[in-house]
Amino acid sequence: MFNSKIVAFSKYVPEKIVTNNDLSEIVDTSDEWIFSRTGIKERRVSTSENTSEVCAKAAEASIIKAGVSPDEIELIITATMTPDYSSPSTACIIQKLIGAKKAVSFDLSAACSGFVFALCAADKFIKTGAFKNALVIGGEVTSKVIDWSDRGTCVLFGDGAGACVIKQGKGGGIIAEDLHSDGERFDSLTSLYTPVNNPYHKEGGEGFNRLTMDGREIFNFATRKVPESIAAVLQKANISSEDIKYIVPHQANSRIVEIISRKMKIPMDKFFMNMDRYGNTSAASIPIALAELSDMGLIKEKDKLIITGFGGGLTWGSAIIEL
Ligand code: COA
Repeated sequence: MFNSKIVAFSKYVPEKIVTNNDLSEIVDTSDEWIFSRTGIKERRVSTSENTSEVCAKAAEASIIKAGVSPDEIELIITATMTPDYSSPSTACIIQKLIGAKKAVSFDLSAACSGFVFALCAADKFIKTGAFKNALVIGGEVTSKVIDWSDRGTCVLFGDGAGACVIKQGKGGGIIAEDLHSDGERFDSLTSLYTPVNNPYHKEGGEGFNRLTMDGREIFNFATRKVPESIAAVLQKANISSEDIKYIVPHQANSRIVEIISRKMKIPMDKFFMNMDRYGNTSAASIPIALAELSDMGLIKEKDKLIITGFGGGLTWGSAIIEL
């Protein structure tokens, strides 16, 4: 068995910044309401690029950092809930955009937990020796599925992508993981419903692509399940939170992170947060945060990090990464 060493993190976010005050011109809201309940100040919104394009920019930066040429990439997994098309996969379009001609490419759908699930999936391909390297991407253009007239959701989300390259290596890599789904509560967060509509059956009702969410339900679920999942990976790795340099949670809401910190008696400065600048970028939020930690020089070889995601599905999960 090999280990999968993570060698480069990168991010890309669209240029356009939309502040809370900008949103107060579209819906009945305020900077004070949004910031006090979520910790979000502003987010990026795509004015032209679709998901494959934001992902390709993060991916290109990541393979350059990793010193790998595009045609050496063997596997691309893209986590997204806002694909350009339902077919082809966003990963196949990224493959074309970055010239990774030999890569096996597919998407993985696990909403805001998508990057954690995708990294753990790629890790298995590397560990078994099926592939020598992989490009793992989390990317979204959530702005195309947001209901811009719903103040309960449109203030929360943002666009962007993060990527990393993993390679076969010795030591480190993903040293513990804990992944879960609960389909019983699938309707707590939905987008893009396509009804059965053919000459033999009319399901009735329209399809929709707009995101719907039971915010309170998601809040309660996250504050209950994320602490359990962090505790589970620490136990599996047989280490304590003091051995962890940073916990990188899905960047949905700073109040959720504060509750997790309080419940677990882990100080807030161990949790990396940047939702003030990007909002909730769904599957992109964790890799964007990892890229920022790396760019700011806050993490180095041998550091252990916990990444922990939660979202639609419902899905949630954590992993401990040793750099
Ligand atoms: N601006 C002003 N008022 C708003 C508003 C906004 N953007 N959005 C909702 N409100 C109003 C509601 O209409 C409600 O008004 P009412 O009492 O007159 O009916 C009031 O604020 C309280 O709404 P509520 O939904 O109870 O607020 P909350 O404290 O639960 O906060 C969320 C709402 C969405 C911020 C919070 O539930 C949350 O963050 N949930 C998790 C969402 C999440 O992270 N989703 C992604 C998971 S991957």
